[in-house]
Amino acid sequence: MTTSHTPPTTPAASSRPDSYYQRHIFFCLNQRDNGEACCADHRAEASFAHCKQRVKELGLAGAGQVRVNKAGCLDRCAGAPVAVVYPEAVWYTFVDQADIDEIVQSHLQNGQVVERLLLPTTVGR
Ligand code: FES
Repeated sequence: MTTSHTPPTTPAASSRPDSYYQRHIFFCLNQRDNGEACCADHRAEASFAHCKQRVKELGLAGAGQVRVNKAGCLDRCAGAPVAVVYPEAVWYTFVDQADIDEIVQSHLQNGQVVERLLLPTTVGR
C-alpha cells in the first residue's frame, strides 16, 4: 500500500503581511557588575529614553512607523553603547543626544544611514 504525502506549504513571499513596524530600533541597556564593558555604563538608558521621546515628538511612533525597544546584551559590548535598526540591520554606537537626534531624523524618519555612527563590523564582545 502506498500513501501520499503532501509537503507542508509555506506562503509565498508576496502573500506575507507587511511588517508591523517600518523600522525597529533596539537599545542594549545591559548592566554588568563584574567590571566588563557594558552599555549601561555609557548612559544607554538616557539615550534610549531620549530616542523614545524624539520619535514620539516627531509623530513617528506606532504601527506602520517606528518602534523603540529596550534590549539585553546584543553581544557587541566592546562598542558600548550600541543600538541596532531593523529591517536594515544597521548597528550604531553613539555618544550624546545629538547623535540620537541624527539617527532618529536621518535613519528612522528618512531611511538614510548615519555613516559616521556605524559600529565597525569587527567590534564584538
Ligand atoms: S552590554 Fe551592550 S552589547 Fe553587551
